[in-house]
Amino acid sequence: MSSHHQSVMFDESIIGLKLKSNGVYIDATFGRGGHALGILEKLGDQGKLIAFDQDITAIEYANQQFNDSRLRLIHSPFVNMHQILSEEELLGKIDGIFMDLGVSSPQLDNAERGFSFNTEGPLDMRMNQSSGISVAQWLVSADKVEIANVIYEFGEERKSRHIASAIKRFQQEQPIKTTLQLANIVASVVKTKKNKHPATRTFQAMRIFINQELTQLSETLKQTINLLAPEGRLCVISFHSIEDRIVKQFIQQHSKQKQLPKGLPIMNSGIEQTLLKDLGKSFASKEEVNNNKRSRSAILRIAQRTTKDVE
Ligand SMILES: C[S@@+](CC[C@H](N)C(=O)[O-])C[C@H]1O[C@@H](n2cnc3c(N)ncnc32)[C@H](O)[C@@H]1O
Repeated sequence: MSSHHQSVMFDESIIGLKLKSNGVYIDATFGRGGHALGILEKLGDQGKLIAFDQDITAIEYANQQFNDSRLRLIHSPFVNMHQILSEEELLGKIDGIFMDLGVSSPQLDNAERGFSFNTEGPLDMRMNQSSGISVAQWLVSADKVEIANVIYEFGEERKSRHIASAIKRFQQEQPIKTTLQLANIVASVVKTKKNKHPATRTFQAMRIFINQELTQLSETLKQTINLLAPEGRLCVISFHSIEDRIVKQFIQQHSKQKQLPKGLPIMNSGIEQTLLKDLGKSFASKEEVNNNKRSRSAILRIAQRTTKDVE
């Protein structure tokens, strides 16, 4: 089983979570457990870490490599965290939630998973292979307009319509089954600078779409409000602008005080209580970017759940 994943913005994340020795934490994206290990190292005997991953290989890896009674592993999309943890009466009791979005290096490096435009493999791209459909299956049923919209919306690719047309032309001869077939079709209509593969944006778009990454992220961010304890921290690392926009807007929306409409109860101060305090964003250091190319697009945003009083 492929195991290497270099954790991104490790120190910044661990500091950002402001870990309490006996706290209860969620790692929504376990991966290969790099950040999880950092969290566990700071927790005492009474501390707990609940870790999610929708990829069964991440959970199998954790079961083999982590022998720690403070760690609980859940094989599920993180969008189910509210439901699972409310059944256990953990609402309002979580001291920190960490999310390191996107795919892990073992997922990218395993050609069989179909995430890479550099290696030949089945065109799958599902993080959770036990549900949903692969990109290859989707491309059979989707029409040109739908394909173009996905590539434009989730990849911000200007040549989206040309790519969709090329895909449909290819499919008149044969179905697209592999990563390199798709990469070559895209490369036939998109030209980019030397160090960027022409299919980068298309693969990103299809991965986001097939895994419903943005809707899952928005839904889950909303859930964090009810899960976090007062002063609990939310730390999210995103890797592209579409993802970061969602995190940024969510934090801003809940950290700005709003004037309440007139006519509400007299006791009301007239200012709606904010639910989060925006603690800002940070980027990977130059040194980290030199050592780990993947970190160059990382943005870590941190927010803190407010106490009951208006801050
Ligand atoms: C960037 S990696 C995390 C790496 C990890 N922090 C580490 O240091 O090893 C992202 C992981 O989150 C998982 N993941 C992504 N989206 C998810 C979702 N919606 N629900 C659950 N797991 C998800 C992926 O399967 C992948 O294993």
